[in-house]
Amino acid sequence: MVNKKNNNKETILELLYKARGETVSGVRISEATGISRVAVWKHINALKQNGFPIDSRPNGYVLSDPEDLLLPFCFDQPVKEQILYFQKVETTMDTAKSLAREGATHLSCVVAEHQTKGRGRLNREWVSSKGGLWFTLILKPPEPPPLVYIYNFAASLSLSRVLNRLFDLDVSVKWPNDLLLGGEKLAGMLSEMETQGDMVRFLVIGIGINVNNDPANKEFKAISLKNILKKKVSRKQILTAFLSEFQNRIQEINCPDIINQWKEQTSTIGSRVRVETFDKIYEGKAVDVDETGALIIEDDQQKLKKIIYGDCFHA
Ligand code: BTN
Repeated sequence: MVNKKNNNKETILELLYKARGETVSGVRISEATGISRVAVWKHINALKQNGFPIDSRPNGYVLSDPEDLLLPFCFDQPVKEQILYFQKVETTMDTAKSLAREGATHLSCVVAEHQTKGRGRLNREWVSSKGGLWFTLILKPPEPPPLVYIYNFAASLSLSRVLNRLFDLDVSVKWPNDLLLGGEKLAGMLSEMETQGDMVRFLVIGIGINVNNDPANKEFKAISLKNILKKKVSRKQILTAFLSEFQNRIQEINCPDIINQWKEQTSTIGSRVRVETFDKIYEGKAVDVDETGALIIEDDQQKLKKIIYGDCFHA
């Protein structure tokens, strides 16, 4: 969704995308959109200014990297129906919440190319550099609020499995829902919920994956797939595979099963950790994650502590 007023721009992008690297003439675009060639030229310039890689040629226009586009028409069904695309937003979290309130359906996926106020856990800034994959899933689960934590575990488990399968990597999950590769942060997740009475109105899970960007973050060491694999990879392929894996996993929610599978994938249990919460810092050895998703650590006085929310750093 570039947005309604920009329908001509979206049509132009679709024509260029479907041409698969071939040049599309201004006349052809003018006929397909019903606007003048001057108007086509103006739209093309505006699209270029918005960062779309369009080259002007003597005989028309060409999209230089069609595989990198994330607009709905680039996806097959059912993903096509789920994608709500934005070129630039403050944060996909707030956009997703507004859309969820306005009736966006369960499993809609708000994707943005740029975020000007990306946010991380504990209200930290999330730097969304060009080339990353930034999206927020809208979920309208039937479970009551205390049980929806399981969707976050299902999401991090699904994403780690997908990245390992697609790129033959050894991505692990760090409590609560980060993805690490070689100890460095590859992806982060943030979930927020709105309730109505004792029911969940919606849950939004924001996922930031360092794909083709060069991440720089002050709080932790971060790495991207491009840095590791030494080549650009398809964000579309990752998003499609993740949505399918996640949907399969949540078809029937089985909390112990998801937590057990997540535990097989984690590098947190057994590590010495420092966990920052809004008001405290805990240190010790991570010994377990219980069936509610809480982290159990053993402190230096051999006392067990249960932590339900926070940002965890492996020593
Ligand atoms: C963290 O590790 O602190 C969580 C990072 C979550 C980042 C994603 S990017 C898409 C969505 N929009 C945001 O503003 N944040 C999440």
